[in-house]
Amino acid sequence: MDRRSLLVILNRFLALECQQVALYKGQARRMGDEHLRRALELFADIEMGHVKNLRREIKRLGGQYSLLVEAADGLGAVMGRASRLPGIGPMLKLNIFLEGRAARDYAGLIRQLPPGPTRDLLWQHLLEEELHRAWMLEYLGKGRRR
Ligand SMILES: [Fe+2]
Ligand SMILES: [Fe+2]
Repeated sequence: MDRRSLLVILNRFLALECQQVALYKGQARRMGDEHLRRALELFADIEMGHVKNLRREIKRLGGQYSLLVEAADGLGAVMGRASRLPGIGPMLKLNIFLEGRAARDYAGLIRQLPPGPTRDLLWQHLLEEELHRAWMLEYLGKGRRR
């Protein structure tokens, strides 16, 4: 894959990561369940780490990250509010869907890249999305049994 195409994809992932940060922050602010609130705050921190990593990687590759991603903060906050309304179950299902999509996106790009620092970074992100997804799936299952 040429550098220009890679930069376009990394910028798209960056925009999605910005949305994840804002979404989880918005959900955490409105979450009464302390266990879930603390998990959402931790996930928001980890997604912020992904944002910083992707910005650093885009710069390292000689690219520029789009200023449009800053607008994602507002969008994520709206999603955070909207996804709170139907309750914890639907909120977790939305998050699980988004984490699964992110993991698939990372896996798809990994398959197209040769060994190197970009591929190493994507593996780290992929595994962290899988951990978020697994945690929320487990929490959703516990809720059903309660
Ligand atoms: Fe992420
Ligand atoms: Fe995640």
